[in-house]
Amino acid sequence: MDIIQIIEKKKLGKALSQQEIAYFTQGATDGTIPDYQLAALLMAIRLNGMNRSETSQLTLAMAHSGDMLDLSAIEGVPVDKHSTGGVADTTTLIVAPLVAACGVPVAKMSGRGLGHTGGTIDKLESIPGFSTAMDMDAFIAQVKRIKIAVIGQTRDLAPADKALYLLRDITSTVDSLPLIASSIMSKKLASGAQAIVLDVKTGAGAIMHTMEESIELAQVMVRIGADAGRSMIALVTDMDEPLGSHIGNALEVKEAIDVLAGRVKGPLLSVSMELGAQMLIAADAADNIEKAKQMLHAALVSGQGMEKLKELIVAQGGDPKVCDEPGLLPKAKYIQDVRLTKNGFIHSMDTQRIGYLAQNMGAGRKTKKDVIDPSVGFVLHHRIGDTVHTGDVIATVHAKSPEDVALAQEELLQAITILPEPANPLKLVHAIVTPDDIITL
Ligand code: URA
Repeated sequence: MDIIQIIEKKKLGKALSQQEIAYFTQGATDGTIPDYQLAALLMAIRLNGMNRSETSQLTLAMAHSGDMLDLSAIEGVPVDKHSTGGVADTTTLIVAPLVAACGVPVAKMSGRGLGHTGGTIDKLESIPGFSTAMDMDAFIAQVKRIKIAVIGQTRDLAPADKALYLLRDITSTVDSLPLIASSIMSKKLASGAQAIVLDVKTGAGAIMHTMEESIELAQVMVRIGADAGRSMIALVTDMDEPLGSHIGNALEVKEAIDVLAGRVKGPLLSVSMELGAQMLIAADAADNIEKAKQMLHAALVSGQGMEKLKELIVAQGGDPKVCDEPGLLPKAKYIQDVRLTKNGFIHSMDTQRIGYLAQNMGAGRKTKKDVIDPSVGFVLHHRIGDTVHTGDVIATVHAKSPEDVALAQEELLQAITILPEPANPLKLVHAIVTPDDIITL
C-alpha cells in the first residue's frame, strides 16, 4: 500500500477502499505515516468528502485503533450522551445525575473545551478536588456502585482520532462532515455505551451552521452507531444563542446546581429534559417521552438528581458542599455589570464571538499548554426576543483583571444585536434524527 497513491486518489475525488482507510488510520496511530502526508490527505478529504461507507469504515478503523471498552459487567443498559459542542451548553451536569437517579447507568466519557466551545471535564474540574482521571476498572466499578461516572478521554481510547484531530486543528480541516462524524463516533463506540444520545448543535455558535448540514451530520452518526449495534438517536438543538445564561467553568457548574436545586428553569432545563428523556428511552427505562419526562421531573423535584450529583462529586474526590453553597466554587476577583446603551428588542447574539470572549478571558485554552482559570466568564441576563432598555444590566462579567472587564464589556455589547422591531425567542429543538427517520419540529 502506498500513501501517495491514497492521497492522489482522494485528491481526484475517488472513494477509498476499506484497506486504504485501514492503512492510513494505522499509520496515523503508530506514527509511520509522516504528518505532512496525513495533512495532505486530510485536506483532500476536507475538499472532496467521503461517502457514507468510507465514513463508516474510517470510524470503525479509528475506534479499533485502541482499547474497546467492555461495559457488559454493568447491570442495565449503559447510556452516554454527546454534544457536538456549544456555548453555555451545560446539559451533561444536569442530565447525567437525573438519568442516573432514575436507575439508568450513565457511563460518560467527556471532553475538554475546544475553540469557542466549553467542555464538561473543564467544568467539573472547577469543583475543588474533583478528578476525572480514573482507570477503566475504577470507571466500571463506580458506574456499578452509584450508576454514574464522568471521565476524560484516556490515552488508549481511539488514538488514531487523537493523532488526526491534532493535525486537523492546525491544518484548517476540522469542519469536514466525515471527519467530524468519524472523530466523534469512534470515541463513542470505543467507550462502550450500548445506548448513545447525540446532541447535534446547529447555528452560529455550532460546528455546523446550517440545519441541512446539522441534520446530515446527525444522520451519518446515528447510522454508524446503529450499524455497530448501538441504540442511537440524535436531537438537533439550537446554538444561535448560548443555551444557559452562565458562561465559564465554575459559573456553568453553579447554573447546573441552581437547575438541579429547582431554583432555575428555562432553556437549559428544557433541553436537558429532552435529552434525558431520549436517554431513558434508549436505555429501555421508559417507553415514551411523556413517561420519561415524568421520571426525570420526579427525580428533579424530589432532590434525587441533586443527591446523585453529590454522590458523583464525592466518588471523584470533589467537595459536595458546593451543591449547598455554590459560593465555595472559585470566584473571580473583578465582578462587574455591563449596562445597555439603547432600547429595543434582542434580535441575535454572535454566539461564536461570545464563546471566544470567554476563551480569551481564560475560561478556555488557546494552546494545549494554557491553564484554565475556572472562575472567569460572564452571566447573560437576557435572551433573544427580550425587550430591553438603556441602562438595563445585560451581563455580569467575572474577570481576573480590569482589562478583561473592559474587553468583555466592549465585546458583549458588539456581539448582541438590538433593533427597534420585536423579535421572537428561538426554538430549542429543531429535529429528531433516528437511523431511519428525520422528524423536523
Ligand atoms: N468533537 C470531536 O470530538 N471531534 C470533532 O471532529 C469535532 C468535535
